[in-house]
Amino acid sequence: MRILVTGATGQIGSELTLELRKRYGGDQVVAAGHRKPASEALASSGPFVSLDVANRDALAQVIREHRIEAVYHLAAVLSATGEQNPQRAWEVNVSGLYNLLELAREAGIAQIFHPSSIAVFGPRTPRDRTPQDTVLSPTTMYGVTKVTGELLADYYAQRYGLDIRGLRYPGIISSETPPGGGTTDYAVEMFYYAVEGTPYTCFVREDTMLPMMYMPDCLRSAIELMEAPCARLRYRTYNITALSFTAGELAEEIRKHVPGFRIEYRPDFRQAIADTWPRSIDDSAAREDWGWNPRYGLAEMVREMLEALARRKAAGCLYPVAAESR
Ligand code: SER
Repeated sequence: MRILVTGATGQIGSELTLELRKRYGGDQVVAAGHRKPASEALASSGPFVSLDVANRDALAQVIREHRIEAVYHLAAVLSATGEQNPQRAWEVNVSGLYNLLELAREAGIAQIFHPSSIAVFGPRTPRDRTPQDTVLSPTTMYGVTKVTGELLADYYAQRYGLDIRGLRYPGIISSETPPGGGTTDYAVEMFYYAVEGTPYTCFVREDTMLPMMYMPDCLRSAIELMEAPCARLRYRTYNITALSFTAGELAEEIRKHVPGFRIEYRPDFRQAIADTWPRSIDDSAAREDWGWNPRYGLAEMVREMLEALARRKAAGCLYPVAAESR
């Protein structure tokens, strides 16, 4: 299978590309992004193309030239950036997906992975153990684009027989590429500040609880869903989670390893977004249908994150996260 990963320079894409290359071979996985690859590993392990998914001709050319058969479509503008520029969020998240679906229909692409998000839920959705089937009435443009994406996926599957699958990811925590422009970014930024020994100003309240997942679980969930037998899947886009914690609980767990870590809470516009999202998710459908089971809890995740970032700091390549927010 020749695979295209869009958004390959982003938080999930940069690591998913490497994982797919390990599994299916470096040359088989084409990485596409609108920035230069940040890591040497990403740049040297297989083909890279510069691409804006909102440009249908450019996307068509990549699919044709590389004879693409499956796509992990991760290119997206996240929730906080989406509120700064809702028009661009629609263009990338909806027009980009529509371009891909149309091209996939024409080119006979076998499989597409399209992540959704907890942002599809909104203030009228139950916030605890949010069910698989529930109210989808988001108040952010990002959420609107993700609901639209889920509906488009359903439509193209039913109308044109495309095999398109997705997960409503919670906040993703990782030590390689920092997230860009999400509401859950504080849960990653906190680690960088702790490792740097700098006090952190958190942009949500201490008692803000959101569902989260550590990157190894995130990568495994995408691959397991894509490899699951089609007949076992009752849904096209699944609720998924690993753990839930408040900002204060995360800081407390970090402090067990970095006793001097200081944090203050100064909520900004992202608090209002977080307040409309679930505190926890019911992912029993994913567990029943394709055997989803997260491996990382809070303690293991925090230990591994701090170890990974400490190694990077010692090697002099700790990425300065959210430099603009300092
Ligand atoms: N992590 C994303 C965000 O905060 C949610 O999907 O925007």
